[in-house]
Amino acid sequence: MMSENIKKRIEKLRRLIEEHNYRYYVENNPTISDLEYDALYKELEELEERYPRYRSPHSPTQRVGAHPVSELRKIQHPMPMMSISNTYEPGELKDFDRRCRNLSGKDILSYVVEPKIDGVAVTLMYENGTLSYAATRGDGTTGEDVTHTVKTIYSIPSTLKSAPIPSRIEVRGEIYFENEDFEILNEKRQKEGKPLFANPRNAAAGTIKLLDPRIAAERPLKAFLYTFGLVENIDLPSQQVLRLSWLKKNLFPVNPHYKKYNNVQQVVESLSEWEDLMKSLPYNADGIVIKINDISLHPILGSTLKSPRWAVAYKFTQEQAFTTIKDIRLQVGRTGAITPVAELEPVRLGGTTISRASLHNPDEIERKDIRKGDTVILEKGGGIIPRVVSVVKDVRSGNEKPFKLGTGCPECNSPLKINQDEAVPRCENINCPAQLKGRILHFCSRYAMNIEGMGPALLDSLLKEGMIYKVTDLYTLRTSRLQQLERMGEKSADNLLRELERSKDVSLSRLIYALGIRHVGLRSAQILARHFTSLDEVARASEEELLSLPEIGTTMARSIVQFFQISENQELIENLKKYGIKTEKSQSEKSADREENFFTGKNFVLTGAMEEFTRSEAKEIIEQYGGRVTSTVSGNTDYIVLGENPGSKLDKARKYGISILRERDFEKKIRLTQGE
Ligand code: IVH
Repeated sequence: MMSENIKKRIEKLRRLIEEHNYRYYVENNPTISDLEYDALYKELEELEERYPRYRSPHSPTQRVGAHPVSELRKIQHPMPMMSISNTYEPGELKDFDRRCRNLSGKDILSYVVEPKIDGVAVTLMYENGTLSYAATRGDGTTGEDVTHTVKTIYSIPSTLKSAPIPSRIEVRGEIYFENEDFEILNEKRQKEGKPLFANPRNAAAGTIKLLDPRIAAERPLKAFLYTFGLVENIDLPSQQVLRLSWLKKNLFPVNPHYKKYNNVQQVVESLSEWEDLMKSLPYNADGIVIKINDISLHPILGSTLKSPRWAVAYKFTQEQAFTTIKDIRLQVGRTGAITPVAELEPVRLGGTTISRASLHNPDEIERKDIRKGDTVILEKGGGIIPRVVSVVKDVRSGNEKPFKLGTGCPECNSPLKINQDEAVPRCENINCPAQLKGRILHFCSRYAMNIEGMGPALLDSLLKEGMIYKVTDLYTLRTSRLQQLERMGEKSADNLLRELERSKDVSLSRLIYALGIRHVGLRSAQILARHFTSLDEVARASEEELLSLPEIGTTMARSIVQFFQISENQELIENLKKYGIKTEKSQSEKSADREENFFTGKNFVLTGAMEEFTRSEAKEIIEQYGGRVTSTVSGNTDYIVLGENPGSKLDKARKYGISILRERDFEKKIRLTQGE
């Protein structure tokens, strides 16, 4: 064969093999026999062997690299790989739609819905039409190079097929295991005495991060691609449905279950259909992703630091677990509120072991008919806090014990009181040890007296050893006594005492907050501190005077007056003074009050996307505190508040030498202004 012909034949074989890979691995519909396929493959291998000058790393024969890599190289993503925010209720989908319509100015938006594959996100970079690297998501900014293992996935094309070919394009999607393949893999591992993978997603992650591609090649990983990162030199279609077609045309595996809807109502109406479909899929999909079809709107909507605003995930079922209730205990909070808590047989749920769950209040227990000994279904309600969804009544033995509140506090046995307007029973004994413990912890907490090192364990020993009986006893502690405690060396003792000493010079607003007056949070403490000049003044204030302050209503005003009427609390304040805790505002606090706050009278410019605030939220906060927000940077600008991907405003601000506030600092200023 002439060399030109050889080159052509090699190229043709590569094309043919990739095409048959696609028919086999993506379409599940081979058009030639295995034998015929093997013949093509063998011919290619032989030609590449004989004519090394035509070898190419992108040849289908090179999918299984011979050598393990020594480590996974870090790869900086040219565009961040984000996550999606989750919703659980149809109402939240409608909120999402409303937000999108408001931000985009459109009356109606059409959406594309796709299954949310529970796999591992990857990005595939194609340079001049060939795969140059594959990387994991990592922290979203920097991922790991997994080209060697991703190449072993036959359904992922090593070249782009459809002209025009962009100079660089990132195709993104998900790598996953089908459930059956995962089971087979685990069975094999069990036989070999290797640790099992917890679920298909972990197996997929573990496999693509293998250093040795030959091991990865033995495992049938699969992929679905659905979006893009960096795109250079070509105009991709401007609708998500058409982009999926583009991917299909280029022989990428695309999930066949996607559908376009003309408005959010149609999406909501289709939810139960999707839910049924999810259950029938051979792989795990933990929900659906709803994306605005019109891609020209995506940059208009932009993104928060974590996720784009043009897409949202809808999760059908949260992960659930069965377990039994070993006991129902009553927990007494610092304000005396009694919360029933289920002690559970420990069980894994959503990545953590759960052994307790709040049952909220006796009414809730009665409504769900939860009994000691019951088998229950647990769920993590959209977040990290587990809740008991329901009781599995079919498996009751008859020995389950209904919950009875009892008449006394579980800690001090004083009578419980249930107020009419709340479902929560309360212990009204101010000397109740459980309340005391809660109060001391609150007193020491970060935004109160901020006494570092004072945690629940240390407090327990202090109480147990009888070293303290009330909050102010903290200030009577001495090194020699502290050292008698277990695990308390001289150094830790000294540190604690130094913290306590330092805490005496406390601001009035922190001190008010530290008292733990019911209904008085950080912000109200700040308001009180601004109006009054000392703790005594607050203590003497009448309900009317309190009511005249901004944001203080009847419940809070009453609660404050009541607090200072209780003799134990009066004693507390006397003791605070006795031990040298500052209860009056200092000169600098007073002048800070006059100065108003950080924001007053200053001009701000916002740029870039912030994680915690939308533009209008940030603007509202600044204006609420007396600042001004303008859209252009000028010599009058005091601060530029910086989000992600700031625009040209930042350059301009630098030119003018304007101070820059990053989101974190901005948040700090807000907290400071709010009294922390
Ligand atoms: S669109 C945010 N579509 O879910 C960038 N993501 O929680 C746009 N995922 O990191 C992603 N199936 O790895 C999109 N059909 C799908 C998806 C999907 C699974 C993953 C993806 C993302 C994560 C977000």
